[in-house]
Amino acid sequence: MKSFSSKIGVLLAAAGSAVGLGSIWKFPYIVGENGGGAFILLYIACSLIFGLPLVMNEFLIGKLSGRSAYSAYRVVSGTNRWQWMAWINLLCVLAIMSFYFVVTGWCIYYMVEAASNTFAGMDAEALKAHFHAFEGHAPVMIIYATIAIVMTASVLWFDVNKGIERLSKILMPLLFIILILMAIHMVFLDGGSIGLRYLFEADFSKITSKVVLQAMGLSFFTLSVGVGVLVTYGGYMPKDQEVTSTSIQMIVLVLIVSLLAGMIVFPAVFAYGFSPTEGPDLTFVTLPAVFQHMFSPTLTCTVFFGLMCVAAITSTISMMEVMVAFLCDATSETKRPLNRHQSVVVIAVIQIITNTLCILSMTGNADWLSVMGQNLFDSANTIVTDILIPIGALGAALFTGWFVPKTRYQGSRVSSFLYLVVLRWLVPIAICIIFLDSVNII
Ligand code: PHE
Repeated sequence: MKSFSSKIGVLLAAAGSAVGLGSIWKFPYIVGENGGGAFILLYIACSLIFGLPLVMNEFLIGKLSGRSAYSAYRVVSGTNRWQWMAWINLLCVLAIMSFYFVVTGWCIYYMVEAASNTFAGMDAEALKAHFHAFEGHAPVMIIYATIAIVMTASVLWFDVNKGIERLSKILMPLLFIILILMAIHMVFLDGGSIGLRYLFEADFSKITSKVVLQAMGLSFFTLSVGVGVLVTYGGYMPKDQEVTSTSIQMIVLVLIVSLLAGMIVFPAVFAYGFSPTEGPDLTFVTLPAVFQHMFSPTLTCTVFFGLMCVAAITSTISMMEVMVAFLCDATSETKRPLNRHQSVVVIAVIQIITNTLCILSMTGNADWLSVMGQNLFDSANTIVTDILIPIGALGAALFTGWFVPKTRYQGSRVSSFLYLVVLRWLVPIAICIIFLDSVNII
């Protein structure tokens, strides 16, 4: 199996997976809805206390097996009893991708619209109408989601060290530079300091049990845990790569990007008298409206949505890679093994179908396509965050904590800490509480 060729390549590819719409789209609006600084502290605490051991754990499972998520659990444990984890991982990436590509398509569409100056002179009301008209228009959304799928597939067409690694080494530094420049620009706007205060002042009266759960869910989602991405990338790690330091560096990068996204959004929103509590519309309605007041609206808006596209595509690449590696690995044991190119085509076609169904269901063109009374876009989002990611993370923690012989981890600096406290007890108990709460049992 081909591997990444450098340690920095692994780090940037993993950070590319983690930094995505979660950090740049979800993080600011969830912070906005939950009162700012106190939520951020919770998010950071969840990422360090629960996220870090889970990230290390998944990297380690992949690295020890040197295989894809399909056979990693079997190879590491030496039994077939954990094969269900592989299928949970597969189901989870399939579900995430069926809405993630839709939003990636929105980002591409908005970047194109911004570059062609469509938003010039539009106020917040006009932009809201524009966004909702777009959200109801299936053909355009299908075209843009398909463009996102084809772009992702064309990177995966190459071996991991030539496609994912090379691209991450170019795009991730670019993403950081643009984020830092935009954050500096926004923070120095007149009135920008109000946004900064909102972001960093902690009002603990806003913290309820629901908010704690939301912080944990967001932290798992942004760190890409529980879905097999880190297991797959762990399988591509060079032998001498240290799991602990790579995991810490990856988490620090994600936290920095999320905070930078907050430092772009809130100063801008407050400087021009908008509200930060607009929910998911914050990025696609409020921000373009805010940018219209700035020195160079077309450029700022285009750069911002370009940045979102880069962040989103490096994440879709990681998810699709889980499926491609899975398919190659699973079929290698059959009479009809699929090579990488064939797997990429099969998975891309599956994605085009699931995304089209998702878009038809969310635009009201296929009312029969609903799960639990919600359209496919909303239900996939809920099922992933509330059910599949917690099960995937819980399963991986229990797997390492209780079932894998300790000798397998010998020689790794993380073993005793991982085994005895966090993965055995803390993570499982915390996830069970989230889960019971989300299904309203407690
Ligand atoms: N971490 C990504 C984000 O924040 C989403 C993601 C989840 C990517 C799971 C891969 C796997 O947008």
